[in-house]
Amino acid sequence: MEKILVINGPNLNLLGKREPEIYGHETLEDIVKKVTEKGREIEILVDFFQSNHEGAIIDEIQQGIGVFDFLIINPGAHTHYSIGIRDAIKGSGIPTIEVHLSNIHSREDFRKTSVIAPVCVGQISGLGSMGYLLALEYAKAQL
Ligand code: DQA
Repeated sequence: MEKILVINGPNLNLLGKREPEIYGHETLEDIVKKVTEKGREIEILVDFFQSNHEGAIIDEIQQGIGVFDFLIINPGAHTHYSIGIRDAIKGSGIPTIEVHLSNIHSREDFRKTSVIAPVCVGQISGLGSMGYLLALEYAKAQL
């Protein structure tokens, strides 16, 4: 069975409590449950990783080489400046989709730039937790 890793970056562990008017009321655990169920339905093994630390995310991507067929990543604030995560994605050669709960293009100017998007297959932004499910469906269709 194909394997996909869903990575969530800094502060996404606070989902549900953190600025719910922007990020919604679902917790990260709720999202993990939903995505796991969808994975079961479409026969994909889904693994999850969350960290507030850039280096830990980079380590996880590197360790995923030869293990995962696709990555889905919400890099949180790292989206806007982490060349380290960008290089790890590119270097891993694992096809990756960037997901954001909020529409980063309709918010502050500093959020409009993603240094990660250019090394991804595509970006889903502003569709809430559904973005993860749509990314999973896309990955399945490609595998
Ligand atoms: C986010 C958008 C980022 O700008 C922000 O720093 C986050 C969450 C999103 O999912 O909308 O932490 O990635």
